[in-house]
Amino acid sequence: MYSDIFSRVYDAFGWNYYPESFAQLLLRWIEEMEIKVKSMLDLGCGTGVLCGIMQEHSISTHGMDLSTGMIAMAKEKYPNIPFDVGNMVTWKPENTYDLVTSTCDALNHILDQEDVKKVFRNVYSYVNAGGSFLFDLLREGEAEECEPVDLGELDGKRLQFQIYHPGENLVTLQTDLFDGETLVNTEKIQERLYDPEWIMTELKKAGFSEVQCTDQLLKEHDSHAATWFMIARK
Ligand SMILES: C[S@@+](CC[C@H](N)C(=O)[O-])C[C@H]1O[C@@H](n2cnc3c(N)ncnc32)[C@H](O)[C@@H]1O
Repeated sequence: MYSDIFSRVYDAFGWNYYPESFAQLLLRWIEEMEIKVKSMLDLGCGTGVLCGIMQEHSISTHGMDLSTGMIAMAKEKYPNIPFDVGNMVTWKPENTYDLVTSTCDALNHILDQEDVKKVFRNVYSYVNAGGSFLFDLLREGEAEECEPVDLGELDGKRLQFQIYHPGENLVTLQTDLFDGETLVNTEKIQERLYDPEWIMTELKKAGFSEVQCTDQLLKEHDSHAATWFMIARK
């Protein structure tokens, strides 16, 4: 769970660069695929950056996230976009959408395989016919272990960040806040690596007809992304 502290770290230390660059990729992908996207829902929307950019491009957006801190920041930044707090495993919107997205390993935060299956079944129920569910997945080797590094200061306190693998297929992102030499807050975010083949099988079982896994979302890209993109069409 992203606490209020971690939510503030997200934008303050530039971690919002990912949804910003993803939005540009997504806009080009929509153009390349020649699909009509009038409405979009972003699951695990964080501080709302992707929704904000897509809304500027005349797509009606809606965001949801488990973290009240993330949603509070999203609402403050984009007061005209609807944002909800919820768990994507159980949460269901009232509307349906042409496109459902989930970015920056939001899906990897779901640790139980049965819960991932529930997300897929839920999403299938609220994507419009012909619409898509597009999300990224952490790729093995992408979240390399790293020694604690100082990120800078948050409210005059030193912020340290590290990544480690507490077990097979598990990744922990840890932030520690120090007042002088005293540790005043620790936060651990757990993620799980998933086999893209398993993900594709489960998307099909949930009802999606065309399912694709790629590290090149755009045809003309000659360099490969450090992440898997999963695209499921209803
Ligand atoms: C790494 S952040 C990515 C945020 C945003 N998508 C972005 O690209 O900046 C992962 C987000 O997933 C959210 N999240 C994790 N588990 C979730 C769940 N079960 N339901 C909804 N959101 C969840 C977290 O609260 C967090 O905001």
